Amino acid sequence: MAKNRLSKILARAGVASRRKCEDLIFAGRISVNGTIIKEPQFQVDLKKDHVCFDEKHISDFEKKVYYILNKPKGYVCSHDKERHKNLIVDLFPTKERLFTVGRLDKDTTGLLIVTNDGRLSYKVSHPKFEIEKEYLVKTDREITANDLKRIASGMTIEGTFVKPLAVSKVRKGTVKITVKEGKKHEVRLLIAQTGSEVVELTRIRIGNLRLGNQLLGSYKAISLEEIELSISQK
Ligand code: URA
Repeated sequence: MAKNRLSKILARAGVASRRKCEDLIFAGRISVNGTIIKEPQFQVDLKKDHVCFDEKHISDFEKKVYYILNKPKGYVCSHDKERHKNLIVDLFPTKERLFTVGRLDKDTTGLLIVTNDGRLSYKVSHPKFEIEKEYLVKTDREITANDLKRIASGMTIEGTFVKPLAVSKVRKGTVKITVKEGKKHEVRLLIAQTGSEVVELTRIRIGNLRLGNQLLGSYKAISLEEIELSISQK
């Protein structure tokens, strides 16, 4: 979700009307990442920023829903319908305030959590929580033992050193990579170092949460407790 004015974010979260939210901001009752913000136009990204009203996270103001989706190819983790034909939220009947927890590339398939709970998004996506994500990768050519070493030794992406926790060959033309950083295109970039290209990329695990035999394009409701349990166990 793109950045938005703080007053708009608060109103959308169901805290109060836009006007009333501006009053709350001026009154110093709203904090962003622990700092009181007094400007309604302050730009906030709910995926990254922790917004509280009187110390209560704003996601507490609406009923929370959680889904695990087996993302199909061709769907984008965005709300920008002008730029993208197929959005992840199009797969859900109530798309209003849903967003994805982290992102998968348009052509990546597999496990994606979809929710309206900004707090969860922060916990699962923020690199500081180091939640493991495991991917199955089909490549256009055979990955050699040397390539595996190269991938495992890591690389710098967006200023962060990404070092996979595990890299292994599953079968001919397919490797499994576990990472915890959550950087954009990280698996594709790790593979690209070897001169190979990704033909298919599927996320099969987040923490201890697995897709199982859920059909591509289908989603199922899951409780917050189940998600929290699976991301808290290493
Ligand atoms: N790494 C990638 O390169 N792409 C994804 O979609 C997810 C992880």
